[in-house]
Amino acid sequence: MATENKHVILTGDRPTGKLHIGHYVGSLKNRVKLQNSGKYDTYIMIADTQALTDNARDPEKIRKSLHQVALDYLAVGIDPKKTTILIQSGVRALTELTMYYLDLVTVSRLDRNPTVKHEIQEKHFGHSIPAGFLIYPVSQAADITAFKATLVPVGDDQEPMLEQCREIVRTFNRVYKKDVLVEPKGYFPPKGEGRIPGLDGNEKMSKSLGNCIYLSDDADTVQKKVMSMYTDPQHVKVSDPGHVEGNTVFTYLDIFDPDKEYVQKLKDEYRAGGLGDVKIKRHLNDVLEGILAPIRKRRAQYAANMDYVDQILKEGTAKANEVANKTLDEVRDAIGFNYFK
Ligand code: TRP
Repeated sequence: MATENKHVILTGDRPTGKLHIGHYVGSLKNRVKLQNSGKYDTYIMIADTQALTDNARDPEKIRKSLHQVALDYLAVGIDPKKTTILIQSGVRALTELTMYYLDLVTVSRLDRNPTVKHEIQEKHFGHSIPAGFLIYPVSQAADITAFKATLVPVGDDQEPMLEQCREIVRTFNRVYKKDVLVEPKGYFPPKGEGRIPGLDGNEKMSKSLGNCIYLSDDADTVQKKVMSMYTDPQHVKVSDPGHVEGNTVFTYLDIFDPDKEYVQKLKDEYRAGGLGDVKIKRHLNDVLEGILAPIRKRRAQYAANMDYVDQILKEGTAKANEVANKTLDEVRDAIGFNYFK
């Protein structure tokens, strides 16, 4: 059947805050491009259940962020007519799939996941790692396989989740002797473009470091943030020769400014001395505004109509349930838990 060969995209984000321009270059931009290619069935999940794995005592934060993330999606151009936006906790089949998959995974395998290991350190869990957090890659495998996704557009840090998912798929199909589940591939941003440093030059843009430009920031806030950016500490006077490498303003220009020739010219001038930080920052601000202004406008339109946003989420989640329930039935059949059929 032709429809069985259609590629399916599934991806998502944890709703733990508003999305920033790091998310934009790391994955949102790709998602819009893939959506508009018309070649895929696309699902985007707001992963509230996954967010709960390290925020169980603060569900209010997740509740609040969920609508912000939905607005961010719609603002960047995720189109609910082309893409199904769904809420993870609204699809109960995912929880049941997770439970079955957990029996096919060892604890030592979970302990080896480099992204999870890194997060455990970052979050200072010590010996108090929530069990649900340790196993979230398995629940993510449920997210992906429930929709039989073939392509998962995510940031580089999610590669271990895909690896884990493929292992679960292979094990499941082998153990239960049926090709029920489908192996997904990752879809990553081009090398060097997927990750942007924070405003302070820290290698990661992250809410906890307070070094982000949010997609929802107003123009004044963006300008203030750009003007405060880390450049070259040795570039004191305008006439001093400056460093371009490790200079966050130039890193951003490399990523966001489509006029590569002009960026090269600025770099040459900066290196030679005579080009001030304020001037390159103003230029960067213009470039960012070119991208952010239309996003901001669309966000405001949707934000003025939250009932409509809720309707989008409700309908998306309902559609997701149909698909996921069908996979769950197939999974239960394969295991043999179909006693009364
Ligand atoms: N782990 C992803 C993140 O932290 C969010 C996520 C949950 C996800 N389920 C997913 C991503 C399924 C891709 C596919 O951003």
